[in-house]
Order: sequence, then C-alpha cells, then structure tokens
Amino acid sequence: MIGSLMMCVSVLVLLFGMLAGIAMGIQHDFTLGPAHAHLNLVGGVLLFLFGLYYRLVPEAGSMLLARIQGWLHIVGGTLFPAGVAVVLLKGPSFEAAPIVGSLLVVVAMTLFTVVVFRTSRA
Ligand code: HEM
Repeated sequence: MIGSLMMCVSVLVLLFGMLAGIAMGIQHDFTLGPAHAHLNLVGGVLLFLFGLYYRLVPEAGSMLLARIQGWLHIVGGTLFPAGVAVVLLKGPSFEAAPIVGSLLVVVAMTLFTVVVFRTSRA
C-alpha cells in the first residue's frame, strides 16, 4: 500500500537528514542548511503525513491518484533538496534540478489536494 511505502521512505529520509545535520554540526559548516531543512520537512515530515492520511483513510490510499501522488512526492521531495545541495556546492548552473524537483512536489501537492477533497468525509 502506498501509505506504508511513504512512511517507510520518510523515516529513512529523516534518519539520513538527521545524520547530515549532525555532520554539519561536527564540521561547523552550515552551507547545506537549506538542503537539510527541505529534505527533513518536504522529503521527510510531509511524506510521513501523507502516508498517515492514506493509512487513516483507506479509501484514499487505494486510489490510483494516491499512488501517483506518492511516487511523485518521493521523487520530487528528494530531487528538490538534492538539487538545492548541488546548487549550493556547485553553483547556479545546476538550477534545473531544484526547479524540476519543486515542480514535481507542487504537482504532487495538487493531487493530494484533490484526494483530500474527494475523501475527507469518508
Ligand atoms: C539529529 C537531528 C538534527 C540535527 C543534528 C540538525 C542539525 C542542524 C544544523 C547544524 C542546522 C544548521 C544551523 C545553522 O545554519 O546555524 C540545522 C538547520 C535546520 N534544521 Fe536541522 N537538524 C536535525 C533535525 C532536523 C529535523 C528533523 C528538521 C525538520 C523536520 C530540521 C529542520 C531544520 C531547519 C528548518 C533548519 C534551518 C535551515 C536554514 O536556516 O537554512 N532539522 N539543523
């Protein structure tokens, strides 16, 4: 079920994001702070919340729209912060990555909005 997959990916993302936060602290180098923040919040916390909704409302979790939304958010929610990190380290010539990642996340969020409006009273 897509909700379970999303929660499993989310906890792995959060584990990685927290370890990256510890690495930043140890190195006293906070260059990647924005990438860390977006990975944890968009790739981790949001993904977990979406997954919880799909588990809480099985009617929503079984929709094709939910599966498309879940995969789009998994891909976009990791590509976006990874792209932010690459831009911070290598410069603006890599801006396509965060742009594509953020657009995927917005499309996924739009799909989630549709799912919630269709199922919130289930
Ligand atoms: C072991 C866990 C974590 C550690 C060690 C850690 C460490 C850090 C460090 C070192 C910074 C940079 C601070 C600075 O720029 O002065 C930071 C920023 C931040 N972290 Fe974490 N973090 C952890 C978990 C999380 C989680 C779970 C979230 C969100 C769910 C989060 C969200 C943020 C945000 C929003 C910022 C601000 C980024 C910015 O100002 O650009 N962090 N964290």
